[in-house]
Amino acid sequence: MASRRFEPSGRLRGDHTAPADKSLSHRAALFGAMTDEPIEIQNYLDSADTQATLSALQTLGAAVDDHEEGLIVRGVGLHGPLEATGGRLDVGNSGTLLRMLPGWLAGQPGSAWTLDGDESIRRRPVDRVVEPLRLMGAEMEAREGRLAPLKVGGASLVGIDYELPVASAQVKSCVLIAGMLASGRTTLHEPGLSRDHTERMLRRARVPFERDGLAISVSPVDELELDRIVVPGDPSSAAFVVAAACLVPDSRVVIRDVALNWTRTGFLRIAERMGAVIVGDLEPPGTEADEEPVGELDVAFGPLEGTSVAGDEIPMAIDELTLVALLGAFADGETVVSEAGELRVKESDRIEGVVEGLRGLGATIEATEDGFVVEGSGGEPLRGGMLDARGDHRLAMLGAIAGLASKDGVEVEGIESAAVSYPGFESDLERLLAR
Ligand code: S3P
Repeated sequence: MASRRFEPSGRLRGDHTAPADKSLSHRAALFGAMTDEPIEIQNYLDSADTQATLSALQTLGAAVDDHEEGLIVRGVGLHGPLEATGGRLDVGNSGTLLRMLPGWLAGQPGSAWTLDGDESIRRRPVDRVVEPLRLMGAEMEAREGRLAPLKVGGASLVGIDYELPVASAQVKSCVLIAGMLASGRTTLHEPGLSRDHTERMLRRARVPFERDGLAISVSPVDELELDRIVVPGDPSSAAFVVAAACLVPDSRVVIRDVALNWTRTGFLRIAERMGAVIVGDLEPPGTEADEEPVGELDVAFGPLEGTSVAGDEIPMAIDELTLVALLGAFADGETVVSEAGELRVKESDRIEGVVEGLRGLGATIEATEDGFVVEGSGGEPLRGGMLDARGDHRLAMLGAIAGLASKDGVEVEGIESAAVSYPGFESDLERLLAR
């Protein structure tokens, strides 16, 4: 495991381009593999998670070629046939791959695969996809009924009407993909809205798809019709630079070509409410679109106030809630995040990780069952110290940003895990600090 010290820095200045969006890269590759015609994907994320997706799709028979403009994915078509039946598919550290891919595999009658991955993936629940896919007719077997390795036996699926137990875009995507392969219509009822990239991709692929409030329906199709996909910058990766610019005095950073889909910008709206100065053309909440909006963010340092985050805001900011804790530690007053129990089943238990991590750096923070409460310092920098990334890319990057804004610096143990979603994270920070 590599450790690296992030010293208190001077201001961050200049232009920044975030790495390509992880959620969209996974979906672009998977939809490419499910399409008969070759598809060009520009700006595909080159990270551990998204490479795991390409490898799994290649094992299943898709061809992936690198060319000047980007990747060309030559798919096997929605109904296959897929290769490597009886084989093992390595999802690495990727929960998105672990939950989405079974939707496609489940609809391939007579074939079976086993999905497995690293130590962290083996702790992440899959019962949330086992149940709906079983109801659709697939043969599903998970360790202790809820963990990887996960065996997916394909079948002739039937459409279902299903209430999702959690507001999860991964599970929603899995069932929508299976729904394209099922007979009849598949309807899902979400308990709350989660990121809608799969819905946008379905519309672009001309799949019959409807949304009515929190209910979404998909009907079977023979094939997908997709054009070139250009992946924009990842707002979840950009969020680390946004947080650094908000916390390090005198900073001002312009972030270009970032995805501003309103189902992904919850953190920006929360930070603005806390007083952060962020100027950008965020997509208005409630927008239903086929395309992913892309734009620019102009972020500057300023004083922050505590806030409360719960309910519908949680899925919109799920991957950035640890950064809300960090902003809260510097704010005036209390910051409370609740109804975020899903954080306990991410790449690590992020409630425990952020609470123990930030407390070790001098923050006043308590865990609750489904979130945390932070008492802000009113602008005083955190002391600093050591933060254990627990093999979790987002905790590693959180520790780095905390270090830049700290008094004494932060030693991040396990900084290498940042490469799961953001290779080049350290050099990007160095560039913004050098101006
Ligand atoms: C993702 C959805 C979220 C998120 C993850 C990526 C996606 O997970 O935390 O990093 O690409 O669909 P859940 O939908 O399970 O909350």
